[in-house]
Amino acid sequence: MQRGTYGVGAMLLWMIVNSVLAPTEVTAASGQEIYQKRCQSCHGPDGKGNPKLAEMLKLKAETLDLTTPAVLGKPEAELLKAIADGKGKMPPFGKTLGEQDQRAVLTYIRQLAKGSR
Ligand code: HEC
Repeated sequence: MQRGTYGVGAMLLWMIVNSVLAPTEVTAASGQEIYQKRCQSCHGPDGKGNPKLAEMLKLKAETLDLTTPAVLGKPEAELLKAIADGKGKMPPFGKTLGEQDQRAVLTYIRQLAKGSR
């Protein structure tokens, strides 16, 4: 009997947690898709940068690393601006990606950074 009650509670909790997390998961998935299509070639599959590309652009490999504390410490607005307007040798994505997509991809970058630490 006690077991049954616990089971219902756990199931309810599971349902609540799932409904809270669901939208985030959807965002992360599309952020990942966008990243793999448009960003990975320069920033690498793990966000740490593509060393070959850095060489081609004559940049230090770290310049393409999005998982450093220096990048993570920047305000959201500054990173979104870099994505929308471009920065240095990075092309602007303001016309290619909608605002929501830009945010989704930034969320994904932050997840990559967390996973790598
Ligand atoms: C052609 C290569 C290239 C592509 C494609 C590219 N980037 Fe970049 N990105 C760069 C370079 C180069 C820098 C470093 C700019 C600098 O600081 O001079 C950079 C920097 C950044 C920064 C850090 C800006 C800062 O202020 O430190 C973010 C965030 C970023 N890119 C996100 C993205 C996202 C998201 C995408 C895909 C939508 C993307 N990049 C696609 C080359 C690229």
